Amino acid sequence: MTTDTIQHQIDDLRQQLRHHSYLYYVLNDPEISDSEYDRLYRQLEQLEQQYPELITADSPTQRVGAQPLKSFAQIQHRIPMLSLDNVFSEEELQRFYKRVQDRLDSTEPVAFSVEPKLDGLAVSIVYEQGVLVQAATRGDGQTGEDVMQNIRTIQSIPLHLMSDDYPDVLEVRGEVFMPKAGFNELNRRAREKGEKTFVNPRNAAAGSLRQLDPKITAQRPLALYCYGVGIVEGHDLPETHSEILQQLKVWGLPVCKEAGVVAGLQGCLDFFHDILAQRDQLSYDIDGVVYKVDRLSLQKKLGFVARAPRWAIAHKFPAQEEITTILDVEFQVGRTGALTPVARLEPVFVGGVTVSNATLHNMDEVRRKDIYIGDKVIVRRAGDVIPEVARVVTSARSDNAIKKLRKVELPQHCPICGSDVEQAETEAVARCSGGLFCKAQRSEAIKHFASRKAMDIDGLGDKLVEQLVEAGLINTVADLYHLDVAAVAALDRMGDKSAHNLIHAIEDSKQPTLSRFIYALGIREVGETTASSLADVFQSLQALSEADEESLLQVPDVGPVVAQHVVYFFSQPHNREVIQQLLDAGISIKKPPVSATVNEKLKDRVFVITGTLPTMSRDQAKEKLQAAGAKVTGSVSAKTDYVLAGENAGSKLSKAEALGVKVITEAELDELLA
Ligand code: IVH
Repeated sequence: MTTDTIQHQIDDLRQQLRHHSYLYYVLNDPEISDSEYDRLYRQLEQLEQQYPELITADSPTQRVGAQPLKSFAQIQHRIPMLSLDNVFSEEELQRFYKRVQDRLDSTEPVAFSVEPKLDGLAVSIVYEQGVLVQAATRGDGQTGEDVMQNIRTIQSIPLHLMSDDYPDVLEVRGEVFMPKAGFNELNRRAREKGEKTFVNPRNAAAGSLRQLDPKITAQRPLALYCYGVGIVEGHDLPETHSEILQQLKVWGLPVCKEAGVVAGLQGCLDFFHDILAQRDQLSYDIDGVVYKVDRLSLQKKLGFVARAPRWAIAHKFPAQEEITTILDVEFQVGRTGALTPVARLEPVFVGGVTVSNATLHNMDEVRRKDIYIGDKVIVRRAGDVIPEVARVVTSARSDNAIKKLRKVELPQHCPICGSDVEQAETEAVARCSGGLFCKAQRSEAIKHFASRKAMDIDGLGDKLVEQLVEAGLINTVADLYHLDVAAVAALDRMGDKSAHNLIHAIEDSKQPTLSRFIYALGIREVGETTASSLADVFQSLQALSEADEESLLQVPDVGPVVAQHVVYFFSQPHNREVIQQLLDAGISIKKPPVSATVNEKLKDRVFVITGTLPTMSRDQAKEKLQAAGAKVTGSVSAKTDYVLAGENAGSKLSKAEALGVKVITEAELDELLA
């Protein structure tokens, strides 16, 4: 072969690999399988081994450099890297907006480029003639550190720009961050090896980017979103910020999918609330949103103050972490008797509400986090998740403070019923051995039974259940169906009318679907999805109650632990008794609809649905699939046949990719259903 043909072959392979890694890492929409990619990669590697003189720095094989550095060199930013001013409320934002309008002398709504404010660290990345030549941290805004070796290891950052119409010099700026799934996995592995874990994704990203050995950085799941440009030479740029971001995408650079353009103050506020609502589902951490006046000519008119532009502002979300003090630790008893240590806190405003209790999960967690009563701790409340104690502020343990700390002790007896507390050796959780003798367990079991996703008994809230149990009116879920209006009406804060309504609602709950009924029983580890799989497979309560572990293991979503719990549940005489009482009280389980249109392509195929689908809700998709004979489960495993993924699909999508499970879109599902 001539050198020309070799060169041609190498160029072609590099082109293909760049294209496919762009689809995979930037668009999350691969066209070829991982093994196909690996094959192309190895082919290129082999050619380069044979012809080392043809290796170039921007070849996909050259991401990870060989030598660790001794220290980072300094890089002067030719255009300083600015920071942003913050607002924390609507009022402050209004004032910002008014200042912008006043300065622009405009009464028209101003258009803004709107973007999530990523929680990572700012970097500057320079391309010359399309080739990545320099990468630096922000540093103090004037001078940063040369992190080129490490930036190169980030798979979503192109070593060579795409298309061929790029500037002679292009400096892009953006945020390096660690997606949540990668962060959790990194910490899980560290914990397994007994190594130190990272406090949050931001610290993990910073720690990973500032490694002297690029081989270490290469193993860290870092990502980048570009949010602006610095120096640009030899190319005209569009006239708005949002179009510049689009242009960066065309060059193969990763830009946050959630970014958009809005008009005026209301547009900004809508975006803020929209992103805040999505915050927990996003695959990366954010601490607010950024609004930037979209038109560059207007940006220029507005200019800068000190170190921040007048044309942009960060609108911060309420902090999800705050410091407070643990006043005491008490133990709550759950439905299955599990004792959960709960910290009573000095009340603190976090995640938008005042928090005075936070879960400590179990005693293993208390020991792992080294928590004492009296400690100063970081409380975390993310979205609707129950607040938890994230970690101890060890720096607050002065000699004096240490003397006042008290150890958290697991009680020997249940704080509610006094029965012995037991802890199986293999379990982190300690349990009250009182079973249904324990009022706490009784109340919790009844609350669960009545809850919306179970029997859905309207008006039977947690407080009322506790009152009913306390008054001795109900001991088991079956007793609900023997309540009479007079007894209920006699309870505190209960009138005749509400008592009537309650009895009606209880009456109305008598025809549950099999899947709701199974879920309502409160079998350990059997959530909604598992209950629905069990119902699909066994079709009747009788069949389920007679199933052995082996046949249970055939059910999608069911592993050995769940199988054991199910068998154990139905082996307990008092559970069988309560079920019989429920049936005697008139509960009749609705027959599952027999699907008339079973689709042979989909029959018994196992699906997982994730993300926001373009036209239907996940529940609608689930119904369609089930009607066609497919099974829908909650978590991705080797048993999964397809993952149906929409926008903002998070860890399930990554897991599917990792396991090589086929990922399809709603449109592709429609084709399968057709
Ligand atoms: S623009 C002149 N856009 O926030 C504008 N910054 O508090 C400079 N950040 O240093 C930055 N997401 O590290 C911009 N979409 C975004 C951002 C963002 C996160 C960070 C960035 C910056 C800091 C300022």
